[in-house]
Amino acid sequence: MKIIGLSGSLSAPSRTRGLVEAVIGEITRQTGFGGGVIDIAELAHAQLRGADLIVIGVPVYKASYPGAFKHFVDLIDPKALEGKAAILVATGGSEQHALILEHQLRALASYLGLYSAPKTVFARDTDFADYRLANPAIAERVAFVAGQAAWLLRAPAARTLAAAA
Ligand SMILES: Cc1cc2nc3c(=O)[nH]c(=O)nc-3n(C[C@H](O)[C@H](O)[C@H](O)COP(=O)(O)O)c2cc1C
Repeated sequence: MKIIGLSGSLSAPSRTRGLVEAVIGEITRQTGFGGGVIDIAELAHAQLRGADLIVIGVPVYKASYPGAFKHFVDLIDPKALEGKAAILVATGGSEQHALILEHQLRALASYLGLYSAPKTVFARDTDFADYRLANPAIAERVAFVAGQAAWLLRAPAARTLAAAA
């Protein structure tokens, strides 16, 4: 099983990337499956196509995901990722826009045919120290979501669809 993180931030360094890395690290710890993280700027479609599970992370920009991230998604063949599993995470200045995960990112994931885990992770800027996740409560949530990722990776329906896509 190959796991690829997709960070939708344009910043470097990036808290969003830090959060995606934390989720990947926890999935690796729980499952033994490894992988890397790519930034949207890399436009690495090929790596995404080879993934079984994609951890999608975005920063909130003006109450939505960044336009550049949407542009990246617009460039993907709508069928290319069908049947793969996904974990959805986001960062923001405050919790006020946490529901973009449910109202916007999950809708986009569904359009792409991704099987997104029911739990998501939202982290505020104050949950980070030096761009690394530093809030134990969020780390606990990350561990829980990683458990759902492990379950999705074992789900035969998702794997069969991914193989057929
Ligand atoms: C252009 C811009 C717009 C933003 N708009 C919002 C917003 O509407 N709601 C919010 O909670 N945070 C907003 N933020 C804060 C970022 O979501 C937050 O700082 C995030 O952690 C940045 O992630 P990064 O370190 O990966 O860039 C905005 C930041 C920028 C640069």
